[in-house]
Amino acid sequence: MNIIVVSDYEEMSEKASLFFCQAIKENPKLVLGLATGSTPLGLYQRLVKMVQNGQISFRDVTSFNLDEYVGLPADHPQSYRYFMNQNLFSQVDIKLENTFVPSGVAPDLEKECEAYTEKLAKNPQDLQLLGLGSDGHIGFNEPGTSFSSHTHVVRLAECTIRDNSRLFDRIEDVPKEAITIGIQDVMQAKNIIMLVNGSNKAEAVKRMIQGPVDESCPASILQKHPSFTVILDKEAAKLLSGL
Ligand code: F6R
Repeated sequence: MNIIVVSDYEEMSEKASLFFCQAIKENPKLVLGLATGSTPLGLYQRLVKMVQNGQISFRDVTSFNLDEYVGLPADHPQSYRYFMNQNLFSQVDIKLENTFVPSGVAPDLEKECEAYTEKLAKNPQDLQLLGLGSDGHIGFNEPGTSFSSHTHVVRLAECTIRDNSRLFDRIEDVPKEAITIGIQDVMQAKNIIMLVNGSNKAEAVKRMIQGPVDESCPASILQKHPSFTVILDKEAAKLLSGL
């Protein structure tokens, strides 16, 4: 595990953008695993600038998102497909048909999950981006999820609903279920990079890095990944000992 501690959100986003820039330059046909949420916004803004000034191109890049709320269609402003279109895809030269986000409104969600797992297995992520939930979740794999899980429908933990309610008018509007790729689908990525900022994540960071590898902290499995880099700001790193 490669642990990088930086001073703040801006430095974290900058470092991550250089990591992505290099990966795309080395392999223009990169398969990316992507995340939504507040954490990657600074990274996405920087990647957009890099495309606009000709440093990199997403022309031959394929992307797979981690997750999507059940019941929110692609044009719903809180759906993750909408988030990705707004914050990245519409601003770079990626082909929209090469971007994949699970559908939370598929008529048969079980079939949707199976198809997504299969597509991912055929196109393993060269580089997977992750954020971290304050309860230790990755994707929407909440505490207790099996380490051998594939894409599945989850009931969101109360803590996640509370954390994510900041993006909705009312907490009651936050969907109670989501589709997420499984932990095994995350672990199949050749390289994983996680970004974490803020003191509200410090406890989860400590458990992920220095706690036992245990399904009660889904992110702890990343200790076993052969190429895992985590970029933390000082606040998120503050409970780590011996660094
Ligand atoms: C998002 C995702 C989640 C988030 C996590 C952190 O696609 O899968 O695991 O990465 O909940 O969210 P933020 O970045 O909003 O703190």
